[in-house]
Amino acid sequence: APADADVARAPRPEYVPSRIDDPNYVRVFDTTLRDGEQSPGATLTSSEKLDIARNLAKLGVDIIEAGFPIASPDDLEAVRNIAKIVGNERFEDGYVPVICGLSRANKKDIDASWEGVRHAIRPRIHTFIATSKIHMESKLRKTPDEVVQIAVDAVKYARSLGCDDVEFSPEDAGRSDPKFLHRILTAVVDAGATTLNIPDTVGVCLPEEFGTLIAGIKENVPGEYVISTHCQNDLGLSTANSLAGVANGARQVECTINGIGERAGNASLEEVAMAIWLRGQDKTAIYGAFTGINPVYIYPCSKMVKDFSGMSVQPHKAIVGANAFAHESGIHQDGMLKNKKTYEIIAPETIGYFRGEDSVGVVMGKHSGRHALSSKLKQLGYPLEGDALDEMFNRFKLVAEQKTGGVDDDEIIALVTCEGSQF
Ligand code: KIV
Repeated sequence: APADADVARAPRPEYVPSRIDDPNYVRVFDTTLRDGEQSPGATLTSSEKLDIARNLAKLGVDIIEAGFPIASPDDLEAVRNIAKIVGNERFEDGYVPVICGLSRANKKDIDASWEGVRHAIRPRIHTFIATSKIHMESKLRKTPDEVVQIAVDAVKYARSLGCDDVEFSPEDAGRSDPKFLHRILTAVVDAGATTLNIPDTVGVCLPEEFGTLIAGIKENVPGEYVISTHCQNDLGLSTANSLAGVANGARQVECTINGIGERAGNASLEEVAMAIWLRGQDKTAIYGAFTGINPVYIYPCSKMVKDFSGMSVQPHKAIVGANAFAHESGIHQDGMLKNKKTYEIIAPETIGYFRGEDSVGVVMGKHSGRHALSSKLKQLGYPLEGDALDEMFNRFKLVAEQKTGGVDDDEIIALVTCEGSQF
């Protein structure tokens, strides 16, 4: 975790988000411990899940989906543990995160979820059933009328246990008939659902289509509820789709750290949250939207999830990839050395990535220019100029062209101090 001093010096949004009843407040629902853990190859122990949940709470996540309790006794135990500990702690501003458990639309699943989450101060039961033609016919083998009845019964049952926070998801909503969606969602709101989560389960929607789907629900489903997005990343559109949802009235976004999840993963929390952080106050489609995320915990959370899950983060991954704040080309390095805002839209320390006081993320490699080399040499204590710098630049280029991983500081020192150097 970042040191307190680092947290204090990290830039914060000018508008300070608080968990107020603001119509533009977008709740962040993290499902790293449920959908994220469904990534092939990612398994987390109960104590790792607890550590991640604690960090998610520090990050300011509103709802932590802690698992799928019916899946196994270990899953149930992990959810119960998180509910008892993290679900009873007060974090910044005195807020307590909601702890949620996923359940299919049946009593056994819902009982298991309730057994896990009921220990939290703010428990939530999340129940779902598929609503697309292909899922209803081929997977569930149920008629649309039967599916509506099962959904209503599940929500009523969850409420009857004493849980007043019930989320309903029509699985594969992205491929469902909007009219049928309006019908089933109206019925579950009447039955007591408080959040309507709209999953693009197979990640097939385009942003405009997903936005229209959300707008249609807002218009056609009467009652008091929060609309949520749950966008899978099969076409690489999960962040764009989530933002299209927000632009059309969704006030909860479901996502995971590093975007891990089934198949191509889920909307990545760091991308969605930072897009809202950076652009929420501009007069764009998401004008006014804000979250309670404290970005300084983003990088530590990303690193923890990467280390615990064994799911590596691609170097060019937005926001948290190793290259997200690195600059190799000469033109970019020159710009960065003059003004960091030339090539960085977010200061890395904002997300808790501290690269040192002087560093501008310059990676010395074959694309680096003379200006960057000169600056690096000064930083290393070798202020070369004129012919000496030209000669050193030629040597450096010869070495850099042979190397794929860049030229590190020791290699630059060796070049400058080796026999024949003009230094
Ligand atoms: O992708 C999906 O449809 C889901 C729901 C259960 C929310 O994970």
